[in-house]
Amino acid sequence: MGLIIAGVGLNPFIRNTTPLTSKREAHRVVPPPPDSLSFDDIRMADNANDAQARVWLETYGCQMNVADSQLITGVLRRAGYVTARAPEEADVILLNTCAIREHAEERVIGRLGDLARLKQARPEVKLGLLGCMAQHNRAALVEKAPWLDLVAGPDTYRRLPELLGDSGFDAAVDVRLNRAETYADLSPDYASGVRAYVTAMRGCDKFCAFCVVPYVRGRERSVPPADIIREVRDLAARGVKEIVLLGQTVNAYRFDEVGFGELLRMVAAVDGIERIRFTSPHPNDMSPAVIDAMASEHKVQPYLHLPLQSGSDRILAAMDRGYTSAEYLNLVARVRAAIPRIALSTDIIVGFYGEEESDFRATLDLMRTVGYDSAFTFKYSVRDHTRAYRLGDTVNETEKQRRLNEVMALQEESSRTLYRAAVGHEFSVLVEGSARRGVGMLAGKTPQYKTAIFPTREGVAVGDTVVVRVLSATTHTLTCAPV
Ligand code: SAH
Ligand code: SF4
Ligand code: F3S
Repeated sequence: MGLIIAGVGLNPFIRNTTPLTSKREAHRVVPPPPDSLSFDDIRMADNANDAQARVWLETYGCQMNVADSQLITGVLRRAGYVTARAPEEADVILLNTCAIREHAEERVIGRLGDLARLKQARPEVKLGLLGCMAQHNRAALVEKAPWLDLVAGPDTYRRLPELLGDSGFDAAVDVRLNRAETYADLSPDYASGVRAYVTAMRGCDKFCAFCVVPYVRGRERSVPPADIIREVRDLAARGVKEIVLLGQTVNAYRFDEVGFGELLRMVAAVDGIERIRFTSPHPNDMSPAVIDAMASEHKVQPYLHLPLQSGSDRILAAMDRGYTSAEYLNLVARVRAAIPRIALSTDIIVGFYGEEESDFRATLDLMRTVGYDSAFTFKYSVRDHTRAYRLGDTVNETEKQRRLNEVMALQEESSRTLYRAAVGHEFSVLVEGSARRGVGMLAGKTPQYKTAIFPTREGVAVGDTVVVRVLSATTHTLTCAPV
């Protein structure tokens, strides 16, 4: 996806964001919204220093893992570690992993195989598995991969220097979940750029029947607003223009009297911050206060990721999503009435336990009714620990793939229509850097999180906001001219 990791750090520890999203895994038919849960690979690089232990860190999974890797980098740097230029040069190799679907885990298992070979050649190198998959598989991992030196879950990063220092014969394993851990006092090492991810809350209390997140990330907890604002001010002082607030159900944010609507207003009050986004909100936590804040705070961008999962009431109930299709549509109508130019994206799962053709048709119908700007579509993957696990899988792989293809084709059509509708209109674009394609072109996002590219003009620099007119559109990019 080429997710832009932004924020200005003391050194560019985290960079080189190579998309790892497999075409079979997360089918993305339009550019990713900030809230998409995608596979990114962040590597610690730079600053090699022979005297100190060198660390190589790879990140898989969603933006929450991206943010956690920045936190891990900060923790290790303060403990005296430096970054390695390549895994071959590292003293410590860490994988920050994802467990959301089987395929996500398979990727990491494959990578662990490569690293095992590396360890054979250099037995002194320490190998560590962090993140959601570490939490999910725990002891089984150490059994399957006995060459691992460290297995650490998402609530244990504070202890990493200590765990890495453990030179026992057995792997250091810490997968204790800690419902008080928010890392609020620890500053992550942000990458450079105009956009930065700031963790607002951790964990999830929703327990959707298909989802492993509550089991691997633990219970919901919010970062104190004062710590969030301190972080945001700091980022603004370093030149960051756009803040993306993160949490698995970010709009469920609550700390004492401060709910998510209030938090949005507090972040909007920070000078220097020009744009605010957030991911992922849950439909049931889209309170009037949140919609009001989006409508009245001009810094909060007109873009909303509203995961639907299914358009069938029967399946939504089986998934325990907590809303019906009618309630979801009602929410969409309220959001659109309050924020007229809002873009919407969503997540869809096809082939959940018991999904019949008629349920699947209901999903397609609902997608047509809403008309999403973009969608992330997934084949259902059975996950142990979850409530749907014992039910099993009723839709075979071929059928899941057929449904997925159909959903993707429909979304492609919807995206094409909506991107084309932008032609001739003007948008303000926050300049992020050079366009990947097109010599002499700059790239940035519209408020609706569509990628806009336009010719470089003298005096226009990264971090500026420019007004452009759309000349032409594909389902991924708006080609524009400065106004
Ligand atoms: N907290 C967010 C999303 C969490 S995971 C939310 O509630 O919307 C991101 C997406 O992965 C989900 O929205 C869902 O579409 C997908 N997903 C989660 N578990 C899955 C599973 N077991 N199989 C397939 N897709 C899954
Ligand atoms: Fe998973 Fe549901 Fe929580 Fe999202 S809200 S992280 S889908 S359990
Ligand atoms: Fe994110 Fe994957 Fe964990 S989606 S929260 S990294 S299971």
